[in-house]
Amino acid sequence: MAYMLGCMKVLVTGGAGYIGSHMVLCLLEAGHDVVVLDNLANSSAESLRRVEELTGKHPDFVELDLLDATGVDRLFETNGFDSVIHFAGLKAVGESVAQPLRYYQNNIVGTLNLLASMDKHGVRTLVFSSSATVYGASEEVPLIEKMPLDATNPYGRTKEQIEDILTDLGAADSSWHIALLRYFNPVGAHESGRIGEDPTGVPNNLLPFVAQVAVGRREKVMVFGNDYPTPDGTGVRDYIHVMDLAAGHLAALDYLPSHPGVFRWNLGSGEGSSVLEVIQAFGDAAGKPVPFAFAPRRPGDAAVSYADPSSALADLGWSTHRNLAQMCEDHWRWQRENPNGYNA
Ligand code: UD1
Repeated sequence: MAYMLGCMKVLVTGGAGYIGSHMVLCLLEAGHDVVVLDNLANSSAESLRRVEELTGKHPDFVELDLLDATGVDRLFETNGFDSVIHFAGLKAVGESVAQPLRYYQNNIVGTLNLLASMDKHGVRTLVFSSSATVYGASEEVPLIEKMPLDATNPYGRTKEQIEDILTDLGAADSSWHIALLRYFNPVGAHESGRIGEDPTGVPNNLLPFVAQVAVGRREKVMVFGNDYPTPDGTGVRDYIHVMDLAAGHLAALDYLPSHPGVFRWNLGSGEGSSVLEVIQAFGDAAGKPVPFAFAPRRPGDAAVSYADPSSALADLGWSTHRNLAQMCEDHWRWQRENPNGYNA
């Protein structure tokens, strides 16, 4: 791995989740000490057991909710953290529309509790899990960090508002070192097939749905819209392998200590793939076609979304290395070997 840095003690909130568990693996492999905080609301401690099996290293795990401000503060009192990577949060768009108070309470208040403890204990290096969703349904592509933000649902607005909070914090106190990482569409799994995405209930996102169809848990993929102004009429997104995404965080963590301030980076490949291209690539990886049917557009979806990832390359020396075929191969290996996710 190109991003070797001095050993740090890193708190990873949401570290038992999909992206978090891959991040913990990369941190341990890079030689860091890791403490995971997770309330297991949408994740399984089994992911961390497997990370330990893969790395031969033990991540400390604390089952805790960020809404428990006293518990969070006690965690900072008893650990000398150097930095924090903050993934913990609710993330389903449809659910956020139905339950806005729960989303604002959990994502915003949870983050405020975390920041208060970080500030009190002098831990002022933070990598925040933001999302390309903050750009809203922008018609202009590629998406560039300086574009105005316009999230279109409560989930997206929590990401945008946390970005605002962190921007204000960095402006008020120059001892903070903050990275706002705007993820495009994270997919794939660690190449071992031992850890991966394990959504609860019906998957909202395309790749986990396609994977569950391929493994026989669901009948067919519904393609939301085939009348978009795109080459094949279906929606175009910038898919990024979860291991490339984790490498982007390591690069940010390497950059921050010598750079105070607030930085925004898109983490994407810079290339778009259509829904039909994804279904085809997944079928190629699985060695069998994935059945699908066309359905109406999903409200709120943009036709095309892909990153301009050139800032992350210029500042961090980071870019993606895994293509759509590899994303599908790794995602399929995980799904095939764990048809029911972490529930054996
Ligand atoms: C979605 C969220 C976004 C969130 C991101 C997390 C919405 C509107 N946006 O982004 O806020 O940050 O997930 O990864 O939910 N598709 C189908 N059939 C399906 C599922 C999806 O055709 O069963 C299509 C969608 O219309 C879209 C593409 O596949 O064109 C990708 O969808 P998805 O994986 O849900 O990601 P986003 O919509 O980009």
